[in-house]
Amino acid sequence: MAVSSLSKQGQNVIVLNDGHEMPQLGLGVWRMPESETAQVVRKAVEIGYRLVDTAYLYRNEQAVGEALKDRPDVFLTSKVWNDSQGYDETLRAYEKSTKLLGRSILDLYLIHWPMPDQGLYVETWKALVELKKEGRVKSIGVSNFQPDHLKRIMDATGVAPVVNQIEVHPSFQQRDVRAFNTQHHIYTEAWRPLGKGNVLDNPVVVGIAQRVKKTPAQVVLRWHVQNDLIVIPKTVNEERLKENFSIFDFELSREDMQAIAQMDRADGRMGAHPDTAKF
Ligand SMILES: NC(=O)c1ccc[n+]([C@@H]2O[C@H](COP(=O)([O-])OP(=O)(O)OC[C@H]3O[C@@H](n4cnc5c(N)ncnc54)[C@H](OP(=O)(O)O)[C@@H]3O)[C@@H](O)[C@H]2O)c1
Repeated sequence: MAVSSLSKQGQNVIVLNDGHEMPQLGLGVWRMPESETAQVVRKAVEIGYRLVDTAYLYRNEQAVGEALKDRPDVFLTSKVWNDSQGYDETLRAYEKSTKLLGRSILDLYLIHWPMPDQGLYVETWKALVELKKEGRVKSIGVSNFQPDHLKRIMDATGVAPVVNQIEVHPSFQQRDVRAFNTQHHIYTEAWRPLGKGNVLDNPVVVGIAQRVKKTPAQVVLRWHVQNDLIVIPKTVNEERLKENFSIFDFELSREDMQAIAQMDRADGRMGAHPDTAKF
């Protein structure tokens, strides 16, 4: 993708299609208990993380906000949940999340799932476009959108999301959706980048890790970064926070990248299918 890559805080910063910058590696906080979240986020920032990915659904926005109250430099993402889709509801949901997070302007706000059966994602996108126009959010994007969902929102508004956050890990690589994103200057952000830990004992990954003297998680995260993906691994463990952040001091060879590319499986999806998701 035609973007520049700057080096900041020992990691990569990418430039989104609206001109704003975003760190390429961040911390995801799904399933992080509210009681632990503030402490983990503070520790992550101390280590060098400058991106945190949360959502209204995760019920820990207040704890994230508390940890980041003196850190406006940390890029903060949240998402509108499915039951708040629709134009007015989305504007209200944004207000609620910004209050919980203690920030009047978020760096990035996403539609969490398209939920095509609800038939509201175009209206929801129009609300995000309005928030952006009014300067109440810096950047807007989507999550779990298939190409036909993306086409519909772009046709309706003329505005492309800056990112499409989708499930990507070595056993489920979504090359078709990623190619569509790239074609439209939409960055792919990989959720569940470690396959929830499931891909870390794969012999291909373990073999590469032993050879390059890194851990399996570092190899997998490095594979994401070299594929131009944004990654948001989740961990509550301090050592693993450090481990997952130390991926900018080595490079995978073309052969290693290809070996991991071959781990892709048609049945590798772990989460819901965006066309049929029921929550
Ligand atoms: N948009 C969406 O629909 C959507 C859906 C799912 C997730 N997400 C986002 O993506 C983020 C990451 O996805 P995820 O949490 O599902 O999965 P993930 O990041 O792929 O994996 C997290 C799991 O791996 C373990 N882990 C983390 N680092 C490790 C390491 N270095 N070595 C060994 N194990 C390690 C963690 O355990 P410990 O915590 O015990 O270390 C946790 O069990 C979420 O937190 C959320 O922000 C978005």
